[in-house]
Amino acid sequence: MSQNIDFQTRFQAKIDAEIKIEPKDWMPEAYRKTLIRQISQHAHSEIVGMLPEGNWITRAPSLRRKVALLAKVQDEAGHGLYLYSAAETLGVSREQLLDDLHSGKAKYSSIFNYPTLTWADIGTIGWLVDGAAIMNQVMLCRASYGPYARAMVRICKEESFHHRQGFEILLTLSKGSEAQRKMAQESINRWWKPALMMFGPPDSESTNSEMSTKWKIKRESNDELRQRFVDVAAEQVTFLNMTLPDVVWNEERGHFDFGELDWEHFWSVVKGNGPCNKQRLAARVKAHEEGAWVREAALAYAEKRKNRTEAPPQ
Ligand code: 3HC
Repeated sequence: MSQNIDFQTRFQAKIDAEIKIEPKDWMPEAYRKTLIRQISQHAHSEIVGMLPEGNWITRAPSLRRKVALLAKVQDEAGHGLYLYSAAETLGVSREQLLDDLHSGKAKYSSIFNYPTLTWADIGTIGWLVDGAAIMNQVMLCRASYGPYARAMVRICKEESFHHRQGFEILLTLSKGSEAQRKMAQESINRWWKPALMMFGPPDSESTNSEMSTKWKIKRESNDELRQRFVDVAAEQVTFLNMTLPDVVWNEERGHFDFGELDWEHFWSVVKGNGPCNKQRLAARVKAHEEGAWVREAALAYAEKRKNRTEAPPQ
């Protein structure tokens, strides 16, 4: 028993000294499990997050918009692969992670369970969804687990392109016809509060925050990041000459108030009852099944190459 306490003490001392924890280091089972939980859900979010935007690739209003959207959706696939690889360093298999997603057991970000109804949604997703993701992911660049922190550095660089291309779409619409302006404002109104809920439940309901903070996976709380995101978006929206629902400057607090968030709706979406949950999972399962032949061919090729390199010279 005392040896384990010694390991725990040394582990926490490394965390407190800002020494990165690497895959081969000793770590508490609970640390490993919460990292698998968070990193795999992050990876699932990236992969499922491709679907709402993918819906508009064939309908982008110009070749330039189509190329940018193609690049963004492709980036998200890459982010998912980095993060699945980071999760695998903790001893879990890709197959297990994907089974958990396809069976509905694993979570992914609630935001991807909403439909993309107009082209303006593609701008709003880039500006608000990727903007919120960046706010959270910049913090995760300093996560105590090495592979996760390092994956975040590259992901954040690509997210800033996603964020800019989204804002530029809305800026273009904001300078367009009355119908285009109306489409952009309607989109912002629809995505704003679900985007705020990306940061997770209020700190009082955040079951993982205490340990994630102690282990420096999480450096700032859900509410702190949410408030910072609101304050930044409230300044940016003025350049669009548009508004954010219920956002009002509070002189006393020195921040923007953002009204009530419907946490009952949030948990209902997280539990699978959002507008598009079933459609998103069905699309992922279909893609996985249709891609089985690619995985089999790649494994067969790898096996053949392995046997060839191991075969004794004739
Ligand atoms: N959607 C679904 N589930 C959510 C959620 C959300 N928006 N926010 C919280 N939850 C879940 C948590 O996973 C947890 O459930 P679990 O214990 O079964 O995993 C429960 O609600 C309680 O929340 P906590 O605050 O205790 O959970 P965390 O401490 O893990 O904090 C988090 C939540 C801030 C989302 C954290 O998990 C995190 O930082 N995750 C990685 C970043 C991420 O997932 N970003 C969003 C999606 S990525 C993206 O947008 C890609 C972009 O390119 C489009």
